[in-house]
Amino acid sequence: MKKINIDAPSKNYGVFIGNNVFNKYASKISSLSENNDSIIIVDSKVYELHKEKIKHLLQRVKGISVVYKFKANEKNKSFESMKKIFDLMLRKKMGRNTLLIAVGGGITGDLGGFAASVYARGIRYIHIPTTLLAMVDSAIGGKTGINYGQTKNIIGTFYQPESVLIDTEFIKTLPREEILCGLGEVIKYGLLIGDNFFNYVAGNYHKAFDYNETFLNKIIHESVSFKGSTVEKDEKEKTGLRKILNLGHTFAHAIEVEQNHKIKHGMAVIAGIGCALHLSNKLGLMNDKYLENYLSLIIEFRDEIKLKKYNSESIYNIMLRDKKNKKGSINFVLIEKAGKLVIDAEADKMAVLNSIKNGLQYFEV
Ligand SMILES: NC(=O)c1ccc[n+]([C@@H]2O[C@H](COP(=O)([O-])OP(=O)(O)OC[C@H]3O[C@@H](n4cnc5c(N)ncnc54)[C@H](O)[C@@H]3O)[C@@H](O)[C@H]2O)c1
Repeated sequence: MKKINIDAPSKNYGVFIGNNVFNKYASKISSLSENNDSIIIVDSKVYELHKEKIKHLLQRVKGISVVYKFKANEKNKSFESMKKIFDLMLRKKMGRNTLLIAVGGGITGDLGGFAASVYARGIRYIHIPTTLLAMVDSAIGGKTGINYGQTKNIIGTFYQPESVLIDTEFIKTLPREEILCGLGEVIKYGLLIGDNFFNYVAGNYHKAFDYNETFLNKIIHESVSFKGSTVEKDEKEKTGLRKILNLGHTFAHAIEVEQNHKIKHGMAVIAGIGCALHLSNKLGLMNDKYLENYLSLIIEFRDEIKLKKYNSESIYNIMLRDKKNKKGSINFVLIEKAGKLVIDAEADKMAVLNSIKNGLQYFEV
Protein backbone atom coordinates (compact mmCIF):
# COMPACT_ATOMS: atom_id res chain seq x y z
CA MET A 1 0.00 0.00 0.00
CA LYS A 2 1.34 3.44 -0.98
CA LYS A 3 0.42 6.73 0.64
CA ILE A 4 0.42 10.14 -1.03
CA ASN A 5 0.05 13.07 1.28
CA ILE A 6 -1.96 16.09 0.19
CA ASP A 7 -1.18 19.17 2.21
CA ALA A 8 -3.97 21.50 1.06
CA PRO A 9 -4.36 24.84 2.88
CA SER A 10 -7.65 23.71 4.48
CA LYS A 11 -6.62 20.13 5.33
CA ASN A 12 -3.75 17.69 5.26
CA TYR A 13 -4.85 14.19 4.26
CA GLY A 14 -3.63 10.90 2.93
CA VAL A 15 -4.51 9.08 -0.27
CA PHE A 16 -3.89 5.35 0.22
CA ILE A 17 -3.41 3.29 -2.95
CA GLY A 18 -3.14 -0.44 -3.42
CA ASN A 19 -4.73 -3.80 -3.87
CA ASN A 20 -7.25 -4.46 -1.10
CA VAL A 21 -6.48 -1.19 0.70
CA PHE A 22 -9.87 -1.65 2.31
CA ASN A 23 -8.71 -4.35 4.70
CA LYS A 24 -5.37 -2.73 5.39
CA TYR A 25 -6.98 0.57 6.30
CA ALA A 26 -9.79 -0.93 8.39
CA SER A 27 -8.39 0.01 11.80
CA LYS A 28 -8.30 3.69 10.82
CA ILE A 29 -11.99 3.54 9.86
CA SER A 30 -12.71 2.06 13.28
CA SER A 31 -10.91 4.84 15.07
CA LEU A 32 -12.49 7.60 12.95
CA SER A 33 -15.95 6.25 13.69
CA GLU A 34 -15.27 5.54 17.38
CA ASN A 35 -18.15 6.91 19.50
CA ASN A 36 -19.63 8.50 16.38
CA ASP A 37 -22.36 7.70 13.90
CA SER A 38 -21.61 6.91 10.30
CA ILE A 39 -23.48 7.07 7.04
CA ILE A 40 -22.32 5.18 4.00
CA ILE A 41 -23.44 6.63 0.67
CA VAL A 42 -23.03 3.87 -1.86
CA ASP A 43 -23.74 3.40 -5.56
CA SER A 44 -26.31 0.56 -5.67
CA LYS A 45 -24.42 -1.19 -8.49
CA VAL A 46 -21.22 -1.17 -6.45
CA TYR A 47 -23.16 -2.45 -3.44
CA GLU A 48 -24.40 -5.44 -5.43
CA LEU A 49 -21.01 -6.20 -6.96
CA HIS A 50 -18.93 -5.76 -3.79
CA LYS A 51 -21.27 -6.82 -0.98
CA GLU A 52 -18.46 -8.54 0.88
CA LYS A 53 -16.28 -5.45 0.96
CA ILE A 54 -19.18 -3.25 2.07
CA LYS A 55 -20.09 -5.74 4.79
CA HIS A 56 -16.51 -5.71 5.95
CA LEU A 57 -16.62 -1.91 6.05
CA LEU A 58 -19.82 -1.94 8.08
CA GLN A 59 -18.26 -4.33 10.58
CA ARG A 60 -15.42 -1.89 11.11
CA VAL A 61 -17.63 1.13 11.61
CA LYS A 62 -18.45 1.82 15.25
CA GLY A 63 -21.63 3.49 16.52
CA ILE A 64 -24.87 3.69 14.56
CA SER A 65 -24.38 3.18 10.87
CA VAL A 66 -26.83 3.61 8.02
CA VAL A 67 -26.43 2.85 4.37
CA TYR A 68 -27.90 5.07 1.67
CA LYS A 69 -27.94 3.23 -1.66
CA PHE A 70 -28.76 5.07 -4.86
CA LYS A 71 -28.57 4.64 -8.61
CA ALA A 72 -25.53 6.64 -9.70
CA ASN A 73 -26.42 8.75 -12.71
CA GLU A 74 -26.26 12.47 -13.54
CA LYS A 75 -30.02 12.85 -12.94
CA ASN A 76 -29.56 11.66 -9.35
CA LYS A 77 -26.61 14.01 -8.69
CA SER A 78 -29.29 16.37 -7.49
CA PHE A 79 -31.01 18.26 -4.70
CA GLU A 80 -33.60 15.47 -4.50
CA SER A 81 -30.87 12.96 -3.58
CA MET A 82 -29.36 15.42 -1.08
CA LYS A 83 -32.77 15.82 0.53
CA LYS A 84 -33.14 12.04 0.89
CA ILE A 85 -29.70 11.82 2.51
CA PHE A 86 -30.47 14.65 4.95
CA ASP A 87 -33.90 13.19 5.79
CA LEU A 88 -32.27 9.86 6.61
CA MET A 89 -29.56 11.49 8.72
CA LEU A 90 -32.08 13.58 10.63
CA ARG A 91 -34.30 10.54 11.24
CA LYS A 92 -31.27 8.84 12.79
CA LYS A 93 -30.51 12.02 14.76
CA MET A 94 -27.03 12.22 13.30
CA GLY A 95 -25.02 15.15 14.55
CA ARG A 96 -21.87 17.07 13.77
CA ASN A 97 -19.57 14.17 14.66
CA THR A 98 -21.02 11.89 12.02
CA LEU A 99 -18.59 10.30 9.58
CA LEU A 100 -19.76 10.09 5.96
CA ILE A 101 -18.18 7.45 3.72
CA ALA A 102 -18.81 7.73 -0.03
CA VAL A 103 -18.32 4.47 -1.93
CA GLY A 104 -18.67 4.76 -5.70
CA GLY A 105 -17.57 6.66 -8.77
CA GLY A 106 -17.43 10.40 -9.39
CA ILE A 107 -21.17 10.84 -9.05
CA THR A 108 -21.26 9.27 -5.59
CA GLY A 109 -18.15 11.18 -4.49
CA ASP A 110 -19.42 14.57 -5.71
CA LEU A 111 -22.85 14.04 -4.10
CA GLY A 112 -21.52 12.55 -0.84
CA GLY A 113 -18.79 15.18 -0.55
CA PHE A 114 -21.32 17.98 -1.04
CA ALA A 115 -23.69 16.48 1.54
CA ALA A 116 -20.79 16.18 4.01
CA SER A 117 -19.70 19.76 3.41
CA VAL A 118 -23.05 21.30 4.33
CA TYR A 119 -24.68 18.90 6.84
CA ALA A 120 -24.33 20.43 10.32
CA ARG A 121 -21.98 22.98 8.70
CA GLY A 122 -19.58 20.28 7.66
CA ILE A 123 -18.89 16.72 8.83
CA ARG A 124 -15.89 14.45 8.15
CA TYR A 125 -15.95 12.25 5.09
CA ILE A 126 -13.91 9.53 3.47
CA HIS A 127 -13.82 8.83 -0.24
CA ILE A 128 -13.66 5.26 -1.49
CA PRO A 129 -13.57 5.71 -5.28
CA THR A 130 -14.61 2.65 -7.27
CA THR A 131 -14.15 3.81 -10.88
CA LEU A 132 -10.81 4.48 -12.54
CA LEU A 133 -12.01 8.02 -13.30
CA ALA A 134 -12.72 8.70 -9.63
CA MET A 135 -9.41 7.12 -8.55
CA VAL A 136 -7.27 9.23 -10.87
CA ASP A 137 -9.25 12.41 -10.66
CA SER A 138 -12.59 13.17 -9.05
CA ALA A 139 -11.91 11.80 -5.55
CA ILE A 140 -8.85 14.05 -5.24
CA GLY A 141 -8.89 17.76 -4.56
CA GLY A 142 -12.11 18.42 -2.69
CA LYS A 143 -14.43 19.68 -5.44
CA THR A 144 -17.95 18.58 -4.54
CA GLY A 145 -21.23 19.34 -6.22
CA ILE A 146 -24.52 18.54 -7.86
CA ASN A 147 -26.20 19.41 -11.15
CA TYR A 148 -29.02 21.93 -11.35
CA GLY A 149 -31.34 22.31 -14.32
CA GLN A 150 -29.25 22.03 -17.46
CA THR A 151 -26.03 22.99 -15.72
CA LYS A 152 -23.55 20.42 -14.48
CA ASN A 153 -21.80 20.84 -11.12
CA ILE A 154 -23.12 24.39 -10.75
CA ILE A 155 -23.90 24.05 -7.03
CA GLY A 156 -21.13 22.81 -4.79
CA THR A 157 -18.25 23.48 -2.46
CA PHE A 158 -14.53 23.01 -2.02
CA TYR A 159 -14.28 20.56 0.89
CA GLN A 160 -11.42 18.14 1.48
CA PRO A 161 -11.96 14.59 2.80
CA GLU A 162 -10.32 12.99 5.85
CA SER A 163 -8.76 10.36 3.60
CA VAL A 164 -9.13 8.75 0.21
CA LEU A 165 -8.85 4.96 -0.05
CA ILE A 166 -8.06 3.74 -3.55
CA ASP A 167 -8.60 0.00 -3.64
CA THR A 168 -7.59 -1.05 -7.15
CA GLU A 169 -9.57 -4.30 -6.82
CA PHE A 170 -12.73 -2.34 -7.65
CA ILE A 171 -11.40 -1.88 -11.18
CA LYS A 172 -11.85 -5.62 -11.82
CA THR A 173 -15.63 -5.26 -12.13
CA LEU A 174 -15.60 -2.11 -14.27
CA PRO A 175 -16.93 -2.52 -17.80
CA ARG A 176 -14.53 -1.63 -20.62
CA GLU A 177 -16.26 1.69 -21.35
CA GLU A 178 -15.72 2.86 -17.75
CA ILE A 179 -12.01 2.00 -17.96
CA LEU A 180 -11.90 4.03 -21.16
CA CYS A 181 -13.55 6.95 -19.31
CA GLY A 182 -10.83 6.79 -16.65
CA LEU A 183 -8.18 6.75 -19.36
CA GLY A 184 -9.70 10.02 -20.66
CA GLU A 185 -8.58 11.79 -17.47
CA VAL A 186 -5.24 9.92 -17.52
CA ILE A 187 -4.58 11.23 -21.06
CA LYS A 188 -5.29 14.69 -19.66
CA TYR A 189 -2.63 14.09 -16.95
CA GLY A 190 -0.22 12.87 -19.64
CA LEU A 191 -0.61 16.23 -21.39
CA LEU A 192 -0.31 18.13 -18.11
CA ILE A 193 2.71 16.26 -16.78
CA GLY A 194 4.90 15.95 -19.87
CA ASP A 195 5.93 13.86 -22.85
CA ASN A 196 7.52 11.02 -20.83
CA PHE A 197 4.30 10.19 -19.03
CA PHE A 198 2.13 10.92 -22.08
CA ASN A 199 4.18 8.52 -24.22
CA TYR A 200 4.10 5.89 -21.46
CA VAL A 201 0.28 6.08 -21.43
CA ALA A 202 0.11 6.06 -25.24
CA GLY A 203 2.30 2.96 -25.44
CA ASN A 204 0.65 0.99 -22.65
CA TYR A 205 -2.97 2.12 -22.27
CA HIS A 206 -4.33 -1.25 -23.47
CA LYS A 207 -2.91 -2.80 -20.26
CA ALA A 208 -5.64 -1.04 -18.28
CA PHE A 209 -8.24 -3.23 -19.99
CA ASP A 210 -6.31 -6.35 -18.91
CA TYR A 211 -6.16 -5.22 -15.27
CA ASN A 212 -2.37 -4.90 -15.33
CA GLU A 213 -1.61 -3.82 -11.76
CA THR A 214 1.78 -2.27 -12.52
CA PHE A 215 0.25 -0.03 -15.19
CA LEU A 216 -2.81 0.83 -13.09
CA ASN A 217 -0.75 1.66 -10.01
CA LYS A 218 1.57 3.86 -12.07
CA ILE A 219 -1.19 5.89 -13.76
CA ILE A 220 -3.11 6.31 -10.49
CA HIS A 221 0.03 7.31 -8.63
CA GLU A 222 1.17 9.86 -11.26
CA SER A 223 -2.31 11.40 -11.65
CA VAL A 224 -3.00 11.65 -7.91
CA SER A 225 0.45 13.13 -7.22
CA PHE A 226 0.04 15.72 -9.95
CA LYS A 227 -3.49 16.70 -8.96
CA GLY A 228 -2.53 16.71 -5.26
CA SER A 229 0.42 19.04 -5.78
CA THR A 230 -1.70 21.38 -7.92
CA VAL A 231 -4.41 21.50 -5.25
CA GLU A 232 -1.78 22.23 -2.57
CA LYS A 233 -0.75 25.34 -4.51
CA ASP A 234 -4.22 26.55 -5.56
CA GLU A 235 -6.93 24.76 -3.59
CA LYS A 236 -9.84 26.99 -4.63
CA GLU A 237 -8.82 27.96 -8.17
CA LYS A 238 -7.80 31.43 -6.98
CA THR A 239 -4.37 31.91 -8.55
CA GLY A 240 -5.28 30.19 -11.78
CA LEU A 241 -2.88 27.27 -11.37
CA ARG A 242 -5.66 24.76 -10.70
CA LYS A 243 -7.37 25.81 -13.92
CA ILE A 244 -4.96 23.65 -15.94
CA LEU A 245 -6.87 20.62 -14.60
CA ASN A 246 -9.74 21.73 -16.85
CA LEU A 247 -7.85 20.94 -20.07
CA GLY A 248 -10.47 19.71 -22.56
CA HIS A 249 -13.27 20.12 -20.02
CA THR A 250 -14.84 23.35 -21.34
CA PHE A 251 -15.52 21.48 -24.57
CA ALA A 252 -16.37 18.25 -22.74
CA HIS A 253 -19.05 19.73 -20.48
CA ALA A 254 -20.72 21.44 -23.45
CA ILE A 255 -20.60 18.22 -25.50
CA GLU A 256 -22.24 16.34 -22.60
CA VAL A 257 -25.09 18.83 -22.38
CA GLU A 258 -25.53 19.06 -26.18
CA GLN A 259 -25.68 15.27 -26.35
CA ASN A 260 -28.28 15.26 -23.58
CA HIS A 261 -25.91 13.32 -21.27
CA LYS A 262 -25.98 10.33 -23.63
CA ILE A 263 -22.18 10.46 -23.75
CA LYS A 264 -20.19 9.56 -20.63
CA HIS A 265 -18.07 12.24 -18.97
CA GLY A 266 -14.73 10.49 -19.55
CA MET A 267 -15.50 9.92 -23.22
CA ALA A 268 -16.54 13.56 -23.61
CA VAL A 269 -13.20 14.47 -22.03
CA ILE A 270 -11.32 12.53 -24.73
CA ALA A 271 -13.36 14.26 -27.44
CA GLY A 272 -12.93 17.63 -25.67
CA ILE A 273 -9.16 17.18 -25.49
CA GLY A 274 -9.22 16.55 -29.25
CA CYS A 275 -10.99 19.91 -29.72
CA ALA A 276 -8.57 21.70 -27.36
CA LEU A 277 -5.57 20.27 -29.27
CA HIS A 278 -7.01 21.49 -32.57
CA LEU A 279 -7.75 24.94 -31.12
CA SER A 280 -4.21 25.17 -29.70
CA ASN A 281 -2.85 24.40 -33.17
CA LYS A 282 -5.24 26.78 -34.91
CA LEU A 283 -4.13 29.65 -32.65
CA GLY A 284 -0.49 28.89 -33.39
CA LEU A 285 0.34 27.67 -29.88
CA MET A 286 1.03 24.03 -30.80
CA ASN A 287 3.00 22.94 -33.85
CA ASP A 288 1.76 20.31 -36.31
CA LYS A 289 4.22 17.66 -35.09
CA TYR A 290 2.94 17.74 -31.52
CA LEU A 291 -0.65 17.92 -32.70
CA GLU A 292 -0.21 14.78 -34.76
CA ASN A 293 1.50 12.90 -31.92
CA TYR A 294 -1.11 13.74 -29.28
CA LEU A 295 -4.04 13.22 -31.64
CA SER A 296 -2.79 9.77 -32.59
CA LEU A 297 -3.75 8.56 -29.09
CA ILE A 298 -7.16 10.28 -29.17
CA ILE A 299 -7.91 8.68 -32.54
CA GLU A 300 -7.24 5.19 -31.11
CA PHE A 301 -10.66 5.44 -29.45
CA ARG A 302 -12.61 6.45 -32.56
CA ASP A 303 -14.54 3.16 -32.68
CA GLU A 304 -15.52 3.26 -29.00
CA ILE A 305 -16.74 6.84 -28.63
CA LYS A 306 -19.81 7.66 -30.64
CA LEU A 307 -21.52 11.03 -30.89
CA LYS A 308 -25.07 11.48 -32.09
CA LYS A 309 -25.51 14.11 -34.77
CA TYR A 310 -24.35 17.31 -33.08
CA ASN A 311 -24.71 21.01 -33.65
CA SER A 312 -21.45 23.00 -33.30
CA GLU A 313 -23.31 26.28 -32.72
CA SER A 314 -25.19 24.73 -29.78
CA ILE A 315 -21.96 23.41 -28.29
CA TYR A 316 -20.48 26.90 -28.67
CA ASN A 317 -23.51 28.55 -27.03
CA ILE A 318 -23.40 26.11 -24.12
CA MET A 319 -19.70 26.91 -23.65
CA LEU A 320 -20.58 30.60 -23.41
CA ARG A 321 -22.59 29.75 -20.25
CA ASP A 322 -19.64 27.96 -18.60
CA LYS A 323 -19.28 29.05 -14.98
CA LYS A 324 -15.53 29.55 -15.44
CA ASN A 325 -15.96 32.31 -18.03
CA LYS A 326 -15.15 35.91 -17.31
CA LYS A 327 -16.77 38.94 -18.92
CA GLY A 328 -18.75 37.04 -21.52
CA SER A 329 -15.80 35.41 -23.27
CA ILE A 330 -14.91 31.72 -23.06
CA ASN A 331 -11.77 30.99 -21.06
CA PHE A 332 -9.90 28.04 -22.53
CA VAL A 333 -7.04 25.99 -21.17
CA LEU A 334 -4.82 25.37 -24.18
CA ILE A 335 -1.48 23.72 -24.67
CA GLU A 336 1.84 24.32 -26.43
CA LYS A 337 3.20 20.84 -25.70
CA ALA A 338 2.80 18.27 -22.93
CA GLY A 339 3.69 20.03 -19.66
CA LYS A 340 3.37 23.54 -21.12
CA LEU A 341 -0.17 24.87 -20.64
CA VAL A 342 -1.78 28.22 -21.39
CA ILE A 343 -4.66 29.33 -19.17
CA ASP A 344 -7.34 31.96 -19.83
CA ALA A 345 -6.82 31.73 -23.59
CA GLU A 346 -9.44 33.41 -25.75
CA ALA A 347 -10.43 32.57 -29.30
CA ASP A 348 -12.82 34.01 -31.85
CA LYS A 349 -16.02 32.17 -32.60
CA MET A 350 -14.88 30.89 -36.01
CA ALA A 351 -11.75 29.32 -34.54
CA VAL A 352 -13.79 27.62 -31.82
CA LEU A 353 -16.40 26.29 -34.27
CA ASN A 354 -13.60 25.03 -36.46
CA SER A 355 -11.91 23.20 -33.58
CA ILE A 356 -15.23 21.59 -32.57
CA LYS A 357 -15.65 20.28 -36.11
CA ASN A 358 -12.05 19.06 -36.32
CA GLY A 359 -11.94 17.58 -32.83
CA LEU A 360 -15.23 15.72 -33.15
CA GLN A 361 -14.80 14.42 -36.70
CA TYR A 362 -13.32 11.13 -35.42
CA PHE A 363 -16.36 10.31 -33.32
CA GLU A 364 -19.24 11.01 -35.68
CA VAL A 365 -21.51 8.05 -36.39
N1 LIG B 1 -15.08 16.52 -8.24
C1 LIG B 1 -14.24 16.49 -9.24
O1 LIG B 1 -13.13 17.03 -9.17
C2 LIG B 1 -14.62 15.77 -10.52
C3 LIG B 1 -13.65 15.51 -11.49
C4 LIG B 1 -14.02 14.78 -12.62
C5 LIG B 1 -15.32 14.30 -12.76
N2 LIG B 1 -16.23 14.60 -11.79
C6 LIG B 1 -17.60 14.08 -11.90
O2 LIG B 1 -17.54 12.65 -11.82
C7 LIG B 1 -18.67 12.09 -12.51
C8 LIG B 1 -18.18 10.96 -13.39
O3 LIG B 1 -17.58 10.00 -12.58
P1 LIG B 1 -17.59 8.44 -12.97
O4 LIG B 1 -17.16 8.30 -14.38
O5 LIG B 1 -16.85 7.73 -11.90
O6 LIG B 1 -19.14 8.14 -12.99
P2 LIG B 1 -20.16 7.25 -12.11
O7 LIG B 1 -20.05 7.53 -10.69
O8 LIG B 1 -21.47 7.43 -12.78
O9 LIG B 1 -19.71 5.75 -12.42
C9 LIG B 1 -19.78 5.27 -13.74
C10 LIG B 1 -20.56 3.96 -13.82
O10 LIG B 1 -19.77 2.91 -13.24
C11 LIG B 1 -20.54 2.18 -12.27
N3 LIG B 1 -19.57 1.68 -11.29
C12 LIG B 1 -18.93 2.37 -10.32
N4 LIG B 1 -18.01 1.59 -9.73
C13 LIG B 1 -18.06 0.39 -10.31
C14 LIG B 1 -17.35 -0.84 -10.15
N5 LIG B 1 -16.34 -0.95 -9.28
N6 LIG B 1 -17.68 -1.89 -10.94
C15 LIG B 1 -18.69 -1.78 -11.87
N7 LIG B 1 -19.37 -0.66 -12.08
C16 LIG B 1 -19.06 0.43 -11.31
C17 LIG B 1 -21.56 3.18 -11.79
O11 LIG B 1 -22.70 2.54 -11.26
C18 LIG B 1 -21.88 3.94 -13.08
O12 LIG B 1 -22.81 3.22 -13.83
C19 LIG B 1 -19.32 13.23 -13.29
O13 LIG B 1 -20.50 13.61 -12.63
C20 LIG B 1 -18.28 14.36 -13.21
O14 LIG B 1 -18.87 15.64 -13.24
C21 LIG B 1 -15.91 15.29 -10.68
